Amino acid sequence: MKILITGGAGYIGSHTIIEIIQNTEWEIISLDNYANSSGDSYTRVENITGKKVKHYNVDLKDLGATEKVFEENPGINGIIHFAAFKAVGESVEQPLMYYDNNINTLNNILRCQAKYNVPNIIFSSSCSVYGNVDELPVTENNKLSKPESPYAYTKQIGEVMVDDFLKANKNLKAISLRYFNPVGAHITGFNGELSSTKPNNLVPFITQTAIGKLEKLTVFGSDYETRDGTCVRDYIHVSDIANAHVLALDCLIKEKLDLSHDIINLGTGVGVTVLEAIKAFEKVSGKSLNYSIGDRRDGDVAAIYANNEKAHKILGWIPQYNLEDMMLSAWKWEQYIF
Ligand code: WQD
Repeated sequence: MKILITGGAGYIGSHTIIEIIQNTEWEIISLDNYANSSGDSYTRVENITGKKVKHYNVDLKDLGATEKVFEENPGINGIIHFAAFKAVGESVEQPLMYYDNNINTLNNILRCQAKYNVPNIIFSSSCSVYGNVDELPVTENNKLSKPESPYAYTKQIGEVMVDDFLKANKNLKAISLRYFNPVGAHITGFNGELSSTKPNNLVPFITQTAIGKLEKLTVFGSDYETRDGTCVRDYIHVSDIANAHVLALDCLIKEKLDLSHDIINLGTGVGVTVLEAIKAFEKVSGKSLNYSIGDRRDGDVAAIYANNEKAHKILGWIPQYNLEDMMLSAWKWEQYIF
């Protein structure tokens, strides 16, 4: 089995490569332009697994360069398409950067999938496609309301692109995985999230504040209709997300899917407020976090967490890590890179 991983040097991509190496015999080709990662990821993967990863420095917006990778690696059986920008807050500030990158990269990879007849693809989608929901937990059949950010909209459009593409290419199959909030780092502490810019997401902000890289964390709003006024999210360990990708691609390769395109939530099913996440971090790290309450952030939804029964039923997936594991692994990683 030959698998192409786009965004393979990224946070979830690199953790998924580790899972694939440690749980399958699949041959991996990774493709990344390091827009939000670095080639050091592959060294970290090798340190953990002992395996070198075949990789290309390619921007998926360059169709010619992308096709060259397929020409040089005939017989690819599956694609895992991670490559995308993924920060809700940043997408509100820079919408065109998100539409250009997230839509055009998907468009090109689907064109290559058809041209080189790659039977299977896993698409990185997101719980942000649900928008503001009025019933919780969300299942995959939940109506998709107006997306609250350009990022969320690129994922809504992405799912429609995959759907329409498969209707026109009936021999191909896809699973779109709707990630909730991927956090944490590899259990060894030797791989984790390394954003090229100042962090946008809560957990790297927490760990960078705790270690002194950042002066203070601002909690974006405490007047939401939630148990403590701060937003509720479904934090899920990055290695649990990675494991789900192996199970999902295996499901496609073994042709166990009834539909040509299925959509699956990846969350723990547990909603956690921002203040609860901070408390869990303080408990496992023994650090008291310097934070204050600020204004709401544009693009945020009040509360969302998953019904993850479908992932269990179709993929046999069960998350292994709890919130304290996630916070401790993130803290170990922050200390390792400091
Ligand atoms: C979480 C909560 C913030 C920073 C993420 C990913 C997105 C998608 C969904 C996968 C929010 C609050 C944050 C800070 C804060 N996942 N916060 N102070 O916005 O839920 O989106 O999950 O596709 O890719 O970005 O995650 O970590 O930015 O925010 O109070 O300094 O933490 O308001 O309530 P979000 P996040």
